Amino acid sequence: MRIPIAKPALGEEELEAVKRVLESGILAHGPEVEEFEREFAEYVGVEHAVAVANGTAALDLVLKAYGIGPGDEVVTTPFTFIATANAVLFQGAKPVFADIDPRTFNIDPDSVLEAITPRTRAIIAVDLFGQPADMRALREIAEDRRLVLIEDAAQAHGAEFESRKAGSLGDAAIFSFYATKNMTTGEGGMVVTNDRRVAERVKLLRDHGQAEKYLHVELGYNLRMTSLQAAIGRAQLRKLDRLNEARRANARFLTEGLSKVRGITPPYEDPRCKHVYHQYVVRVEDEFPMGRDELRAFLESRGVGTAVHYPIPIHRQPLYRKLGYPQDICPNAIEASRRVLSLPVHPLLSKSDLEYILECVREAAQRGGR
Ligand SMILES: Cc1ncc(COP(=O)(O)O)c(C=O)c1O
Repeated sequence: MRIPIAKPALGEEELEAVKRVLESGILAHGPEVEEFEREFAEYVGVEHAVAVANGTAALDLVLKAYGIGPGDEVVTTPFTFIATANAVLFQGAKPVFADIDPRTFNIDPDSVLEAITPRTRAIIAVDLFGQPADMRALREIAEDRRLVLIEDAAQAHGAEFESRKAGSLGDAAIFSFYATKNMTTGEGGMVVTNDRRVAERVKLLRDHGQAEKYLHVELGYNLRMTSLQAAIGRAQLRKLDRLNEARRANARFLTEGLSKVRGITPPYEDPRCKHVYHQYVVRVEDEFPMGRDELRAFLESRGVGTAVHYPIPIHRQPLYRKLGYPQDICPNAIEASRRVLSLPVHPLLSKSDLEYILECVREAAQRGGR
């Protein structure tokens, strides 16, 4: 038996959606994409949603739409997937890293304040692992310093901060629908915003700068979403709340069991947030009798899939080291990268899977090693 770390929840509805598109004969951009955009915008509670090929494209295009480019700095977290920072590099701008809050793993607003310079144009906050960043404090900073606040909600479909949905908390936000995300289209992404000009600009940029058929007003790309992706996305969106509730119930069960295990710190839930557990990430503390990597190997040997999100903070990646980033900044992110371990939390886990995961961690706690 093996329990995978992630598994997409796909069924008859998605099959039906794919069949519908194949029978329609409209495979590229078409009415399914427009319907998906409309339904997604309504779900998030924003005016505009623009579907694109993937979450990385969404980040690239939203930064470009705001005119961020050479000479500009963008403050973000080093404890995220690489795409968040690379999107800034792709614009010719400079990512500047602020440290994280060690409890939530999200960007620390006080550290953001320290990272701001006269060149700063934007902040990208990531709703890491399915829990929104401190968007109230970040909003205040962005307004005070006249910065664009972009929410990277790639991992947080359906999450909430003070009862508002992730994706509606900044000036614009992006989502990813990659295969392991809380809702998927295989590959896919979305830009959401209340700013009509930004939405229009992203629409142009994703489609060769084409304002009308064969009228090209600026240099753009082909980063469109297909109708097949959109149709699957519509089916997934209808299930999203149910899938998220299953993740949250799984997380509650794991947290209840793990809070009795010395040396394992379960995820912290900010009381202002609804956490949707894209990942269930524990910290392996020094009191635990095994190190993080040893515990991981032990669980894998017992058939429990695990992952480390993320083993290397972005400023320490070879690419960023070569760019000359100092290696000793953001100590909380460095410490987190040594301690974190993601356990399965996806909606297809059974009660006995969850019990088995707990049993294996308890066994590791008793075996010791160091
Ligand atoms: C926080 C974050 N930002 C951006 C992305 C990029 O999304 P995609 O893989 O769809 O390009 C991801 C996803 O993998 C992510 O987790």
